[in-house]
Order: sequence, then structure tokens, then C-alpha cells
Amino acid sequence: MSKRRRHRFIQIGTGGWGREWCYEFLPGLVRSGRLEPAAAVDVRRAHLKNAVEGYGIERDLCFTDAQEAFDTVDADFVILVTPPDQREQYVEMACRCGLDILSEKPVADTMEGCVRIHRMVKKARRKMGVTMSHRFDQDQQSLQSLVKSGRLGALGAVIGRFTDSRGRSGGYPMKRVVEEVLLIHGSVHHFDILRALSQSNAARVFARTWNPPGVDMPGKTSAFVVVEMENGVLCQYEGAFANAATLNGWEHEYFRAECENGTAIIDNRQLTVLRGGHTGTWEVERVPLLQRPMWMNEWLTEQFLNWREGGAKSKMETSIDDNMQCNALLFAAVESAESGQPVEVQEFLRRHLETVRE
Ligand SMILES: NC(=O)c1ccc[n+]([C@@H]2O[C@H](COP(=O)([O-])OP(=O)(O)OC[C@H]3O[C@@H](n4cnc5c(N)ncnc54)[C@H](O)[C@@H]3O)[C@@H](O)[C@H]2O)c1
Repeated sequence: MSKRRRHRFIQIGTGGWGREWCYEFLPGLVRSGRLEPAAAVDVRRAHLKNAVEGYGIERDLCFTDAQEAFDTVDADFVILVTPPDQREQYVEMACRCGLDILSEKPVADTMEGCVRIHRMVKKARRKMGVTMSHRFDQDQQSLQSLVKSGRLGALGAVIGRFTDSRGRSGGYPMKRVVEEVLLIHGSVHHFDILRALSQSNAARVFARTWNPPGVDMPGKTSAFVVVEMENGVLCQYEGAFANAATLNGWEHEYFRAECENGTAIIDNRQLTVLRGGHTGTWEVERVPLLQRPMWMNEWLTEQFLNWREGGAKSKMETSIDDNMQCNALLFAAVESAESGQPVEVQEFLRRHLETVRE
């Protein structure tokens, strides 16, 4: 039987998306007594006010130097909401101090970084979870549950679309330095949804990325990607940060599961199953979305706490072990976009596991 207790955390990165953690994702779990903020860290002092206001944490438990926080407070785990190229050092600190880790995605900005992080965590025998939040949103969970139920028969193919308009996702200034900005910061979520829907890891991937006319950014903001899963399910994905119009923005993505006995579509949070249509009319079934008390980051944090309390059997779905397959698909897609060639994903992962040094 799992034992409920208070888990003390240090949050590193309290501005940008970290602000949402402070005000939206965690206050409920803090109020419920399951979580207790031990310290907050951000290199920009002004961003620490989000932790003070969101969690009610004392100012003297807010630090601009993470090592000082680790040395000052007792904690059980860290939450990493820094940009992905600013995580390895903190995973190393957490492992050295015997703390578990809950991290934003992607775990690192390169496959090499992901492998080093995975290795550090395994060596230190710590637990690490990754917040693949969109896979755990209400709309996507409803489609995944329908497909997994088997009610529509065998799944053959998945088609996904995330297309946002310029000035929103395309406007993230800090992310412009990353060449494959869409794949690394956006599509990583959708790749994980493809894995969840197909219930398989990727066998091979082919990606083309580009910028639409009029978008003057160094990073590539559009992508077409084809993924063949190990179980034979075929996936086709379209992504864009900076189109002229948003069709399926964040939390409104389109995914279509082509199953034996029905075409299931989640589109702008409406779940529908279609059949027939050759005579001009479809048989249309509207499927209500699943209900539960929390979704996305809050639910993933709860899963992480359950895992911390319950041992191996309660391991969260998006543990670092599982997430390495998502990272492999992501960075194999990046390699494909760069080389113009399809990439064998499992061979790509093996090569990195064998060759990356500490
Ligand atoms: N829906 C989602 O899942 C979602 C949405 C947005 C961002 N994210 C993820 O959240 C993470 C942060 O993204 P962001 O857009 O907030 O980035 P950001 O550049 O705004 O940085 C977040 C915070 O980290 C701080 N920071 C930067 N480097 C640091 C360091 N070395 N040590 C301590 N603090 C540091 C910054 O000052 C800032 O307050 C990324 O991994 C991103 O992919 C996820």
C-alpha cells in the first residue's frame, strides 16, 4: 500500500513556462498538502517573484545560484523548467545530492545530452519523470483511450496536425537560436502522442523542415514528418509554428486514427468517429471526452509523486526510460531533416548509447 506524504521540491526556472508551474500547475497540490516548496531558483532574480506569489514561499528560500539552494534546504526532488540546454548541470547536482527529478521536455537539446542525463540518473538510482504534457491532455487521452479500447478494431495509420500562426509560437525569441525549433520545442509532444496512439516505438523517420514565405527566422518553423512504427502503424505529421493562420494550435491539435471499423478524429477538442461517406453522408458518432480531476502537468506531477511513494510498480508512463524512445524519435527526425535521408530510429538510439561518453 502506498503511503501518502508531503514531498519537498526545489523548482529551477520560475519565469517563462516556469511561471505557469508556479501559478497554475502546482498550487492545488501544495494546498492539498502533498507538495511543499523547499526553494526556488532562477538566474534572473526578478523571475523568482512568481514562486513567492504562486507558492507563498519565503524570499530567503529563493536563489539565483542552484548550488546554494541545494546546500541550504532539505528537499526530495527538483523540478527543472529551464531551457533544455540548461538541464544537464542540474541533473548532475540532483543526482549528487540524492534527489529525484521531474523535468520539462525535451530532456536535453541534443541526443548526446539525453543519453548523458539518462546514464547519470540510472547510475545514481534516482527516479526521473518527463512532463510530456500534451499527451496527457483531456482531448488526446480521450482519443488514445478509444483507440486502445479496441472498439474500432485494428489501427492502421495516424495522421497528426499542429499548425499555429506567426506571432504566437513563432515569436518565442529565445528559441530562435535552435535550428530545428519546431521539432525540438513543439513536435516532441506530437511525436510522443504518435507513440501513445500507436502503442509502439518508432522504427524509421523521414522529416522535411522549412520556413514559410515571409518568416524571417533562423530556425525552421514548419515540418512534414513520416514515421513508421515498429508494429507497422504508419504516421504522417504536419507541424508549423508560424503559418499565416492557426488551424490546430496548442491544446487544439488534430489527430486522426484510421482504424478497421471507424475513423476516429480529435479536432479542436471534439472527438468524432466517422464511418461510410461514399454516398455523401457519413455515419457520425460524437464521443464525449473523458473526465478526471486534473490533466497535463498537474496530473503528471501527481503520477510522479505516486511513483515516488509506490516503488517500481507505480512507475510513471513518461519516466526517463520511456522518454528515451521519444528523444530517439525526436533527434532522429532532426538528423533526417539535416541529411534529407530517412533514419532508422532504433539504430540511431543504439549508436548513441554505445558512443556517447560522459
Ligand atoms: N506545454 C509545454 O509542455 C511547454 C510550454 C512551454 C515551455 N515548455 C518547456 O519549458 C522549458 C522552459 O521553457 P521557457 O520557454 O520557459 O524558457 P525560458 O528561456 O523562458 O526560461 C525559463 C526560466 O528559466 C530561467 N533560466 C534560464 N537558464 C537558467 C539556468 N541556467 N539556471 C536557472 N534558471 C535559468 C530563465 O530565467 C527563465 O525564468 C523548456 O524545456 C520548454 O520546452 C513546455
